[in-house]
Amino acid sequence: MAGPAAEHADASDMDDTRMDETTRIPHDPAPGAPSPAPKVMFTFNGNTVEGREGDTIAAALWAVGIRALGPGEAGLYCGIGHCFACRVVVDGVHDVRGCLVLIRPGMRVEPPRIPLPPLPPGAP
Ligand code: FES
Repeated sequence: MAGPAAEHADASDMDDTRMDETTRIPHDPAPGAPSPAPKVMFTFNGNTVEGREGDTIAAALWAVGIRALGPGEAGLYCGIGHCFACRVVVDGVHDVRGCLVLIRPGMRVEPPRIPLPPLPPGAP
C-alpha cells in the first residue's frame, strides 16, 4: 500500500501484504544527522507492519498509511492520550491507547472490538 490511496486507508482496506513505511521523512544525509532507528516488526489486524524503535502504535500505523484504526472513522485525534479515539487491542488487552504505547517486536495489534456506547441524548 503506497501513494495517495494510502492516505485514507483503514483496517478494512488491508490485505495480507506487509505494510512498509510510506510517509516517513527520508533519512537526512546531513553530517551528524542521527541514523534511522532500528526497525520493529509487529502485526495490525493480522498484517505485518514495519515500524521504528520509539514509535507509538499510532505513529507506526500512520507511517504506513493507516489512519483509521477500526470501523468508522475512529483513529488518531488528539495524539496525547486524552480522547481515546485510538483505542486498539494489544496482545488481547482491550482499550489500549495507540498514541501512548510504544511498539514492541511481535506485538499483535487489532482494531477495537467493542464500540463505545452511544452518547446520552443532549450530550455536547
Ligand atoms: S489519539 Fe486521542 S487518546 Fe490517542
